[in-house]
Amino acid sequence: MNKNDIAIKTTGLTKRYGSVVALDHLDLEVHRGEILGYLGPNGAGKTTTIRSILGLIKPTSGTAEIFGIDSQQNKVLAHSRLAYVPGESIFWPSLTGAETLHLLGKVHGQIDPKYQKELIKRFKFEANKKVRTYSKGNRQKINLIAALSTRAELLIMDEPTTGLDPIMEQAFKQSVLEAQANNQTVFLSSHILEEAEALCDRVAILRSGKLVELGTLAQMRHLSAVSIQATFEGVPPNISHIQGVSNAIVTGHQLSCQVRGSIEPLLSVLSAAHPKTLLSREPSLEELFLSIYGDGEVNQQAIG
Ligand SMILES: Nc1ncnc2c1ncn2[C@@H]1O[C@H](COP(=O)(O)OP(=O)(O)O)[C@@H](O)[C@H]1O
Ligand SMILES: [Mg+2]
Repeated sequence: MNKNDIAIKTTGLTKRYGSVVALDHLDLEVHRGEILGYLGPNGAGKTTTIRSILGLIKPTSGTAEIFGIDSQQNKVLAHSRLAYVPGESIFWPSLTGAETLHLLGKVHGQIDPKYQKELIKRFKFEANKKVRTYSKGNRQKINLIAALSTRAELLIMDEPTTGLDPIMEQAFKQSVLEAQANNQTVFLSSHILEEAEALCDRVAILRSGKLVELGTLAQMRHLSAVSIQATFEGVPPNISHIQGVSNAIVTGHQLSCQVRGSIEPLLSVLSAAHPKTLLSREPSLEELFLSIYGDGEVNQQAIG
């Protein structure tokens, strides 16, 4: 890939806190223009990754570049290309929301005032109230509106929808897709799978500081079993020997199983037995997550 097409590049990025390895040799490239979901359970190392990429903490080893700019060596220049939505933040309690947005805009140097107005309306943000009266959701709206209205080339968001109600999550999704349509790149950390599913071109999955999966959702679905259910006039065929098939259960005329990888060998056996009904279901991202983390079995297969 051309160097100019890479928004974020980390090489061997590692952060230790004493004996805790919060991030372990992360090699990751975020492509320009994509929405990358950075998923992992609490404590996986998502925030550590983001802070290291931003140069807010010093990695133990490794490097991070933003549009080719080393973010430790050249923090100011790197930051001029991005906007950041922190997981939590401290504001000035006696300023109003509008004053806070104004100040954050000054800090960043550039905002699109027309778009900011639109965002304030979309997120139903009560800009005239003092920040000290705000709920967690309203505080989060400040971060979101401030970052989105910069129209920065790169948006780095750390669990941005924490505290937002479901209607506002809709507003959030719309805004992220707008950013992409505006040629911005979005790095979105989340432990909410549904969010990533709706938005992301690719997802990276982090577990205990290690990148365990990276690819498109379509590629990842491959790793997870598809559930199949079929009914037959007579006795269901024997399918336990078919490659990729697991958990085959026969109850009377009904058969259910899971299949990993290609579904074709199974289908040809099923169809030869003339099924009356056939149901197949795609795994949700939740099930994907389970297939990676579940039963203590980590899938080490590299994809992407
Ligand atoms: N300042 C710190 N000092 C010590 N340990 C830390 C510090 N920050 C994070 N950690 C540890 O690093 C690991 C990753 O944390 P974090 O990056 O916050 O995960 P996530 O954002 O995915 O929930 C956790 O085990 C956490 O306890
Ligand atoms: Mg975090």
